[in-house]
Amino acid sequence: MARALLYPCLLFLASTATASLHLQCLENPPDLTAGGNEVGQVVDNLAGFTAYVAGSIHSNRAIVLASDIFGFEAPLLRQIADKVGGAGYYIVVPDFFNGQPYTGDPSINITQWIDDHSPVKAAQDAKPIFATLKKKQKSIIGVGGYCWGGKFAVEIAKMNEVEAIVISHPSSVVVDDMREVKCPIEILGAQNDTTTPQKFIYQFVHALRKRSDKIPYYGKIFPGVAHGFACRYNSTDPSAVKTAEEAFALMLDWFGKYLK
Ligand SMILES: *[C@@H]1O[C@H](CO)[C@@H](O)[C@H](O)[C@H]1NC(C)=O
Ligand SMILES: *[C@@H]1O[C@H](CO)[C@@H](O)[C@H](O)[C@H]1NC(C)=O
Ligand SMILES: *[C@@H]1O[C@H](CO)[C@@H](O)[C@H](O)[C@H]1NC(C)=O
Repeated sequence: MARALLYPCLLFLASTATASLHLQCLENPPDLTAGGNEVGQVVDNLAGFTAYVAGSIHSNRAIVLASDIFGFEAPLLRQIADKVGGAGYYIVVPDFFNGQPYTGDPSINITQWIDDHSPVKAAQDAKPIFATLKKKQKSIIGVGGYCWGGKFAVEIAKMNEVEAIVISHPSSVVVDDMREVKCPIEILGAQNDTTTPQKFIYQFVHALRKRSDKIPYYGKIFPGVAHGFACRYNSTDPSAVKTAEEAFALMLDWFGKYLK
């Protein structure tokens, strides 16, 4: 039915090549010079991945944050990670792009970049991360994904690897995904998101509601904000900060409820 209307960001980009640079996935690249206050550390070899880790090393509950296409070095993402860590979790932000995030550099061929960094393939490749966390007694795991990471999180949720996921302004997520997710899912969308418009969020929730094998779900659309609002917000704009903090609080509530 409505599937023909779906233009997931990454697929859409792939089919329209480099002309689509106005898409919201590519907007507001993070200011990498704004970091420096992180409390965590970068480790070289978490199951073969470089990763930012923080939080409670002795907790049996871990959260993996999956970044947007701008990668794991974004200062605002690390702030989010530190706050999750401060809430009692062990937090891991892997570099899924092998040191080559999208940087906004116009010489990068975005079509090629996306071919090389499929979130579906990344989810398969990430299995050792979850195995390693479990070996380290992190038996209860959640994934929080932003944009690209939203699709990653959904793919992980199809595999029985984790107990709950939260996806914020996802890209590439389609209605069919909602029929295959195996754990509680929270979906945080934006009213002005052109990548995953509100209409899609309604369709996702509708598909979850119609499932015969019920899983807990929650969907919310934040008014007056666009794609990226939860992790690439303007940190000097009080209203943008407030909305991002609300999204963060909902994510933490969801994990608090389902990672027990
Ligand atoms: C970008 O990469 C795609 C996929 O490899 C290729 O088909 C296309 O020709 C490239 N575009 C440019 C402008 O190099
Ligand atoms: C959201 O969309 C409304 C209506 O199109 C517009 O007035 C507003 O400026 C947009 N806000 C943002 C943050 O994009
Ligand atoms: C960020 O917000 C501040 C305060 O509202 C504003 O002055 C500034 O122009 C905004 N920056 C961007 C890049 O939108």
